[in-house]
Amino acid sequence: MTIQERKSIPIPQVEARVPIPQQNLRIPGPTTVPPVILAEMARPMINHRGPEFAAIMRRVTPRLQYFFQTASPVLTYPASGTGGQESAIANLFSAGDHIVVITIGSFGNRLAKIAETYGLQVSRIEFPWGQAADPDIVEARLKTFKPYSGVLMTHNETSTGVMNDVQTLAALVRRLAPDTLIVVDAVSSLGCVPMEMDPWDVDVVFTGSQKGWMTPPGLMMIAASPRAWEASKAARLPRFYFDWASSRKKLELGQHPTTPPISIFYALDLALEMMLAEGREAIFARHQRIGDYVRLRAKAMGLQLLADHAYASNTVTAVMTPEGVDTKAMLKKLREQDRIVLGGGQEHLDGKIFRVGHLGFFQHAELVEAMDAVEKRLHEFGFKG
Ligand SMILES: Cc1ncc(COP(=O)(O)O)c(C=O)c1O
Repeated sequence: MTIQERKSIPIPQVEARVPIPQQNLRIPGPTTVPPVILAEMARPMINHRGPEFAAIMRRVTPRLQYFFQTASPVLTYPASGTGGQESAIANLFSAGDHIVVITIGSFGNRLAKIAETYGLQVSRIEFPWGQAADPDIVEARLKTFKPYSGVLMTHNETSTGVMNDVQTLAALVRRLAPDTLIVVDAVSSLGCVPMEMDPWDVDVVFTGSQKGWMTPPGLMMIAASPRAWEASKAARLPRFYFDWASSRKKLELGQHPTTPPISIFYALDLALEMMLAEGREAIFARHQRIGDYVRLRAKAMGLQLLADHAYASNTVTAVMTPEGVDTKAMLKKLREQDRIVLGGGQEHLDGKIFRVGHLGFFQHAELVEAMDAVEKRLHEFGFKG
């Protein structure tokens, strides 16, 4: 492009802004944000190095530690869940390190890809999509590997609606390799279901504001154990934005190294207050009830679930689209005519499954409405169940 051409770019003609329609958003993130929290985000901007922001950090940090179940500081970054994956790898390892990734779907695969991008040697323990990691198989495979400095896994595999038994997996890894770093991607599980970082002796856990936290996208939260902090001192992979040491130093001052997403902090601050008012165990029970409900409804319709029953997730349900039904056409009808937004399938499951998100802020009635509409639309497509 010449300078002349650059100067002559006309004012763009774009479509008009329109209000976002009222919809029943049932994807596994971003999740619905309660109106009271949306309103909280309309507060004016403040100095991110001033006393008001420091007060927010003093409230948010210990409450996150409570949900993470860790005494370690919880660092926050303006980032999405993938930032958590990258941050863990960049802070813990050095080029050429051998690590193991236990993968049961798309987000486990992403962990492995990021590690390879950073020049690590990655051994994968893969399970078919829809299944959880089998501890016996994991143990047998780990015994065949040369020494490894980390084991990475997803807690809740959002692409398949399967939840790994992290407590059991972490215990067996620790037994086989006491010093190895155990990293858990809890992006779509933390705050919704039990995930106990210190009691389970997990070294790094991270999550994203747009999943179980009744907060919009924009914040990644991550904690590292004392073992992981020690490892990060020796780790040589390059990092700047995600450097934990500089975040920790600033956290002690109630600040971020860079400009934090202040409006998202307003939201998270109130969301955590509301979550504590509801109670952690009550939140877990609410997710258990809704998981049971969605699975029961799907089965009652004659549908098959992708997930192994024993490991079915309480935050997202992946349903196999029945033979003869066009998944995308059905999702379009649900969206345009019923105002119900469900998720599709990822990678090879595109067009083969649909996913119902039930995490964070939801009313039971919203899932009843969503499942009623699915039933009606499936019948229109000729599915008899
Ligand atoms: C388990 C898991 N890990 C990582 C990610 C990536 O998060 P993001 O899309 O926010 O980068 C997601 C997103 O859905 C996820 O569910």
